[in-house]
Amino acid sequence: LHGSMTIEDKILHIGGVNTLEIANKYSTPLYVLDEELVRKNCRDYVKHFKVKENKNKVAYAGKAFLPIYMCKIINEENLCLDVVSGGELYTAHKANFPMKNIFFHGNNKTTEEIKMGIELGVGKFVVDNFYELDLIESICKEKNTIQEIYFRITPGIEAHTHDYIKTGQIDSKFGFTLVNGDLFNAIKKLDEYNHIKLVGLHAHIGSQIFEIDPYMDEVDIMMDLVKEIKEEYNIEIKEIDLGGGIGVYYTKEDKPKSIKEFCESIIKRAETKCNKIGINIPTLVIEPGRSIVANAGSTLYTIGSIKDIKDVRTYVSVDGGMTDNIRPSLYQAGYECSIVNKMGQKNINQVTVAGKCCESGDILITETNIMDIKTGDILITTSTGAYGYSMASNYNKIPKPAVVSVYNGEEKIICKKQSYENMLELELNS
Ligand code: LLP
Repeated sequence: LHGSMTIEDKILHIGGVNTLEIANKYSTPLYVLDEELVRKNCRDYVKHFKVKENKNKVAYAGKAFLPIYMCKIINEENLCLDVVSGGELYTAHKANFPMKNIFFHGNNKTTEEIKMGIELGVGKFVVDNFYELDLIESICKEKNTIQEIYFRITPGIEAHTHDYIKTGQIDSKFGFTLVNGDLFNAIKKLDEYNHIKLVGLHAHIGSQIFEIDPYMDEVDIMMDLVKEIKEEYNIEIKEIDLGGGIGVYYTKEDKPKSIKEFCESIIKRAETKCNKIGINIPTLVIEPGRSIVANAGSTLYTIGSIKDIKDVRTYVSVDGGMTDNIRPSLYQAGYECSIVNKMGQKNINQVTVAGKCCESGDILITETNIMDIKTGDILITTSTGAYGYSMASNYNKIPKPAVVSVYNGEEKIICKKQSYENMLELELNS
């Protein structure tokens, strides 16, 4: 049981709200967000990363889950925000998120996106390449303004995670490579540019990482760079952004570190390293997405067909699937499930939980033990809060489910369910 989940009369409650009742009231599939857990995770980060005492920054990675409502929580909890597209930036803007607290990422921001960011007054652009650097300079020149930037670098660190979500290795589409001198060429270019102010360096070594060691290496590499840039180019790098990525619990195989341990290890290593090489410790920034929202989200489905192939397998099909959670099909990601109206019963059946898309690969859980089930039961998959709704699609013209936030015994729809009409809004009839 994650966060504020409890069992009352064999029924799962989240945030004091009866999940069976909301499944019936709002229909399934339904995403449920445990707002208390989101806020607790935010506060843990703010506390242990010393946002107040040390003026460090925690920027929530919006790509994990970014409805307007989420922007509001993030701002209320004193986090900054990392956006990666005009769409995410627009969402933050509509949520009245303070633009100075935004980090704008992306390896191929378009001219329109860069203009939009500059016009809205985004705090920092995390500049990924020469193309972007030139564009920012020319747009700022035209508008007669100065933009603060970070340079994103590829630190050459390989962490253990799925190939698709690795990013720190040299062969990566992201950032200025260290080994070929690109970073220093970019710094030299700043001499010709009067509308760009370099204030920080950024790196991200990957996502769903359980080890602390790669982060320690990352801290060392970044601090060495701060020293080198000061000595060689006389530029003070005031801020170091270490990216996101600490892993979370999805299934029993996952052994995540706590937010506290992760934050404390980083701060300690940064202090030790800076002392050792004799530099002032820069402001530290991290960008967690998954570890703030993954365990706070769950998805409710209704069980339809139960197909028992004797001695082979039992397929339990639910009314959603890869359209609301692409992660099992895309990354072979594992999930756990339960039947919300039969909590506490023994898991006696081995089944495969399948989605409803016309595709054999649309399997949510390949193998799981579950209680006695029948058509109409409500199945919950847990830890779907990150990269679930945000990666949802309309494949097979299946509408996106609603998101309901639960908190202190009350529920609130924060994203409406898409209707068939909504899906056709952009399609012309002639
Ligand atoms: N900062 C940067 C620059 C990133 O690229 C990412 C994730 C994060 C922060 C946040 O990482 P987190 O704390 O959430 O691990 N769709 C994949 C994950 C892709 C992550 C991409 N970047 C998934 O569902 O596992």
